[in-house]
Amino acid sequence: SVNNHLLKQVQATPVKRLCRTQNIITVNGQFPGPTLEVRNGDNLVIKVQNHAVYNVTIHWHGIRQIGTQWADGPEYVTQCPIQPGGTYTYRFTIKNQEGTLWWHAHSKWLRATVYGALIIYPKLGSPYPFQEPKFEIPILLGQWWNRDIIGVLRQATFTGAAPNVSDAYTINGQPGDLYRCSRTDTMKFYMESGDTIVLRIINAALHQQLFFTVANHRLTVVGVDAAYTKPFPTRTLMLGPGQTTTVLLTADQPPARFYMAARAYATAQNAPFDNTTTTAILEYKSIPCNAQNSMPLKPILPQLPAYNDTATVTAFTTQIRSPSSINGPTEVDENLFFTVGLGIVNCIPGPQCQGPNGTRFAASMNNISFVLPRTTSLLQAYYQDIPGILTTDFPPVPPVKFDYTGNVSRALWQPVFGTKLYKLKFGSKVQIVLQDTGIISTEDHPIHLHGYHFYVVGQGFGNFDSRKDTAKLNLIDPPQRNTINVPVGGWSVIRFVADNPGVWLMHCHIDSHLTWGLAMNFLVENGVGELQSIQAPPADLPSC
Ligand code: C2O
Repeated sequence: SVNNHLLKQVQATPVKRLCRTQNIITVNGQFPGPTLEVRNGDNLVIKVQNHAVYNVTIHWHGIRQIGTQWADGPEYVTQCPIQPGGTYTYRFTIKNQEGTLWWHAHSKWLRATVYGALIIYPKLGSPYPFQEPKFEIPILLGQWWNRDIIGVLRQATFTGAAPNVSDAYTINGQPGDLYRCSRTDTMKFYMESGDTIVLRIINAALHQQLFFTVANHRLTVVGVDAAYTKPFPTRTLMLGPGQTTTVLLTADQPPARFYMAARAYATAQNAPFDNTTTTAILEYKSIPCNAQNSMPLKPILPQLPAYNDTATVTAFTTQIRSPSSINGPTEVDENLFFTVGLGIVNCIPGPQCQGPNGTRFAASMNNISFVLPRTTSLLQAYYQDIPGILTTDFPPVPPVKFDYTGNVSRALWQPVFGTKLYKLKFGSKVQIVLQDTGIISTEDHPIHLHGYHFYVVGQGFGNFDSRKDTAKLNLIDPPQRNTINVPVGGWSVIRFVADNPGVWLMHCHIDSHLTWGLAMNFLVENGVGELQSIQAPPADLPSC
């Protein structure tokens, strides 16, 4: 079926949060933006009109975009941005994907307010692999600043320092009862005793990994990103920016009002972070009359783990498995090793050098700090063979071996800038070891790969040891994801088959890290010849 989501108007809209009104960029005047509900197999046609004063693009986070590379959305990667007054129609098909995804601006830091849920239901007549819920609620976790987000970005880029910490976290755009001037607008959800419902939780925060929990209720995880998982119970979830988790919740408690809550998971003690808590209310409709008629029952607040509780995170993450044994990705043709981490670059002393010790922050993979082109997109440069825009010499391994126990070489924290792609042969079986360097930052890096859905075959702490750790990889029931946290001081290993030709961005989904260059791109050719491997661009593709 064709799903027409005709007008998506990107525009400035005044909203009131934390006692003050400010203009934010929204889609159709809504914050968060409209939820797209589609079915596996649907053809989507989404026309985006830009009425804002900023350039914008929209990315369909987790959609594989097989054969529709021009619709992926990251600015200067697969398209030039839609300029103010401009229009672009994204057309793509949902191919064998079900689950909780989302869409967001992929332009500057506009996704702070330009985002919404993208829910893919099974084909008509196909059931869920779990109990049919009474109803479903998308839960979008966000991050709010008391100032224009482009101003926050400019401040960070100008000073070379870390961006200002946020002023609040939000659930479906609302900070909740624990913040000033927010109580009347706190999100409220109602359910009857005995109901089983689905929560589709999305971490849309710009910079922060978040814990999420619901007071007194057990959550049963049934999916992550656009894949089902082996169901398992948990009290707490942790989601990196970009990740989603689908859970079942049963109203099995004595009727009352309960808070759901989210707050930061941050192993950093040296760096400041927003340590506030966002809440929404889950209310049983059958609250006893006497309580209903007297003072409203105070919602019950859940226990959240300590902000630096890595043990809880690891316990949660290791339980995420594919529902059944898969014909695992046992072979590897391309064995890649990428260091991911922050770094610094020297700076001529002045107001623009407010990073550590008078430097500027930078970030890299294999010590290459990614730079976006400005005059065209990478995909166009490739497709039209435009010289001088990109090179295909992204290194498959770091310039020096990474070793936590040794001295960290300058070749791993003083990056060089470049627009380098790594060429993958169509159909090749790829393994990437993502090794955190732990330099400066003590944050997990949520690494997101466009155009693919990969298996997470391993995760661990310390140095990845190819001989020892390869033997321990999970090739039986690894989960499928599009965004994986590379833990602080540790590593994650992903595998996928390069079966989708195109130019595909891989990056840290913490936007400040992306801005500092924690990104690279794959170029996947189909082997038939460079120009044939990708369809011609649509006629309305914006130009730079
Ligand atoms: Cu959700 Cu490249 O982004």
